[in-house]
Amino acid sequence: MIESLHVVGSGCSYDVTIAEGLLESVGERVAASTGAGRVAMVTDTTVDALFGDAVARSLTAAGVEVHRMSVEAGETSKSWKVSGLLLERMSEAGLRRGDAVVALGGGVVGDLAGFCAAVYMRGIGVIQVPTTLLAQVDSSMGGKTGVDLPRGKNLAGAFHQPLAVLTDPCVLPGLPEREWLSGLAEVAKSAFLDSAAAVEQLEADAAALLARDPEAVYRAVVMAAGLKVRVVSADPLEGGIRESLNYGHTLGHAIEAVAGYGVVPHGRAVADGIRFAARLAQEVLGADAAWTARQESLLDALGLSPSGAACGVGDEAGLRRAMAADKKARSSTVRFALLSGPGVYQPFEADEAVLAEHLREWCAAESRG
Ligand SMILES: NC(=O)c1ccc[n+]([C@@H]2O[C@H](COP(=O)([O-])OP(=O)(O)OC[C@H]3O[C@@H](n4cnc5c(N)ncnc54)[C@H](O)[C@@H]3O)[C@@H](O)[C@H]2O)c1
Repeated sequence: MIESLHVVGSGCSYDVTIAEGLLESVGERVAASTGAGRVAMVTDTTVDALFGDAVARSLTAAGVEVHRMSVEAGETSKSWKVSGLLLERMSEAGLRRGDAVVALGGGVVGDLAGFCAAVYMRGIGVIQVPTTLLAQVDSSMGGKTGVDLPRGKNLAGAFHQPLAVLTDPCVLPGLPEREWLSGLAEVAKSAFLDSAAAVEQLEADAAALLARDPEAVYRAVVMAAGLKVRVVSADPLEGGIRESLNYGHTLGHAIEAVAGYGVVPHGRAVADGIRFAARLAQEVLGADAAWTARQESLLDALGLSPSGAACGVGDEAGLRRAMAADKKARSSTVRFALLSGPGVYQPFEADEAVLAEHLREWCAAESRG
C-alpha cells in the first residue's frame, strides 16, 4: 500500500509519501527530492540504534555522503544548546547550500533538525522521516520547527517546510505505550476535525489500533496525515483554519504545564482537553450532547481515559493562568478550537469569567468520576 499526499501553499509544494517498507528507499528518495551530495542525518540515540544503519546504508547506496548526528532521546535535546552544537557539526562536515538535513525520529528530532535546517546558511533543505505515531500523523508536516527555552516550549522557532516527508508505518510496532497513546490522541483529534466518516472508521478500528494492527494503523496514519495536509495547505502560516489543529490542546498544554512536563502523558492531557472542549461546545455553541458522548467513548475505546490530573483542589486557577500565558493566547481571552459536530469547526474566545465557570464545572464533574 502506498499513499501520496501533496502539500501546496505559500510558495511551498511537497509530497508526503506513506508506505510500508519505505525506510529501505529513503536514500533514492532523498537524492531525488534534494539533489544533495551530502546530508546531516539527525536522529536520537534510540532511533539511531533501531534504524540508523538501514537509513545510512540506503543514503550511501544512493551516492549521498552521510554525516550521522545523534542526540540524546527525549525533549531535553530540543534545546538552543543542542541546536548550536548540531549547527557547528554541520559546518565542520562542510555542508553547503545545496546539501540537506534528514530528520530521522519523532517530533523532537523533527523540530530540532528542522530548526537547524531553517537557520543553517539561512536555510537548507530538510527531509522529514517520522518514526513516532505522533510525528507521522502530525508534527512532520506543516513546517513548524523550533526548540524550547527555559521559560517555555517552542519559544524559538521558524516555519521551514520540508522538501518531502517519508512515512513508513512499519517502524511503529516497538514504540513505547506512552508514545503510542500520544499519537492516538492526535489521531482521534484528526478524525473529530475531519468528518463523520472518519469518526465512524476510527470507532470501527479502535480495538485494532490498540493492538497496533498494521492495516488499522495504516488507515489511521493516512486519514490523519490527509487532514493535516489539507489544513496546512489552506493555511501554511497559521493565520486562520490551522488553529483548528489546536483542538484539545489549549487545556491539554495547560495540564502538562501545571502538572510539570512529562508528568501527565501528552496523549492523556490532550484527551482531557478534547473532553473539556466538547463540553464547552455543548454549552456555548449548543452542540448536541450525543456528540460530546461520542467523542468521550471513542477516547475511552482508544485507551485515553480521563487522567484526573487537573482536578486537584486549587488547580483550576493554575490552569487558567497557564492557558492565558500560552503563546497562542490573545489579549485577556483564551481562544478555543471547538467543534459543533464532526468536521464542523468554530473558534471561540472565552473570557476569564466564562473560563472559570466552565473549568469549575468540568473539574467538579471529573472528580465525581
Ligand atoms: N512541529 C509540529 O507541528 C509539532 C506538532 C506536535 C508536536 N510537536 C513536538 O513533537 C515533540 C514530541 O514528539 P514525539 O511525541 O514524537 O516524541 P519524541 O520525539 O521524544 O519520541 C518519543 C520517544 O520515542 C522514541 N522513538 C521514536 N521512534 C521510535 C520507534 N519507531 N520505536 C521505538 N521508539 C521510538 C524516541 O527515541 C523517544 O524516546 C514535542 O517536542 C512537541 O512539541 C511538534
